[in-house]
Amino acid sequence: MIDVKNITKIYKTGDIEFQALRGVSFTIKDGEFVAIMGPSGSGKSTLMHILGCLDTPTAGTYFLDGKDVSTLSDDELADVRREKIGFVFQSFNLLPRTTVLRNTMLPLMYSGIDEEERKKKAVKALTATGMTDSHYHHLSNQLSGGQIQRVAISRALVNDPSLILADEPTGNLDTKTGDIVLGTFQKLNEELGRTIILITHEPDVAEHADRIIYIRDGQIVEDGRAHSKRKARHHA
Ligand SMILES: Nc1ncnc2c1ncn2[C@@H]1O[C@H](COP(=O)(O)OP(=O)(O)OP(=O)(O)O)[C@@H](O)[C@H]1O
Ligand SMILES: [Mg+2]
Repeated sequence: MIDVKNITKIYKTGDIEFQALRGVSFTIKDGEFVAIMGPSGSGKSTLMHILGCLDTPTAGTYFLDGKDVSTLSDDELADVRREKIGFVFQSFNLLPRTTVLRNTMLPLMYSGIDEEERKKKAVKALTATGMTDSHYHHLSNQLSGGQIQRVAISRALVNDPSLILADEPTGNLDTKTGDIVLGTFQKLNEELGRTIILITHEPDVAEHADRIIYIRDGQIVEDGRAHSKRKARHHA
């Protein structure tokens, strides 16, 4: 599904250049659950933005489902995102003064799906993260941190994406809410075969994945199997 080769990313701020990614290569197969770990500033979000077709690498190639994404126009990239990718951003990016239901429906805006159907899909995605209908008409500033996080995840699921990219989705959650969120990802991965790439600082969270990629100073320093908790649980 994903094949990146020798990707670099250079940010320019005025005259200053900063190399956030320095030659990153890996492949991720359909249906894999991968965690990306690394210190703050190591390039994780930068990598996620490139994998999510939100940004392009300075050099290197990125094939998504056999297609060279670096050759696509902005419009074509937007099509790829709408059809294939669900995002949970580090800052969650919910629209203020907008209800839970509307925030969740957002990725379907230009999909050509009618309003009733968009609502149905939003309700399904909200149910999957444990959000109940008592909150559907709350505005984002009337929600707890954990609820904001769950709405952000619901929004990522609403277009039924084959690839889900989540940046610190359980960052500030209590254990119980964090478990609901991780359980949602696991279910999507195991039952529906969705590919999941999850950025996290917490080894405990990373252990829910099949594979962990460690990144430091814009380079991969380790890439291997996780001592998957769920595998252990399955055999228990
Ligand atoms: N738009 C930008 N312009 C300039 N520099 C940037 C930009 N975005 C990120 N950087 C720099 O690139 C480096 C990698 O940033 P990135 O956001 O990918 O880190 P991260 O691994 O996600 O960190 P964190 O764990 O704190 O979220 C950082 O040093 C950051 O300052
Ligand atoms: Mg980040």
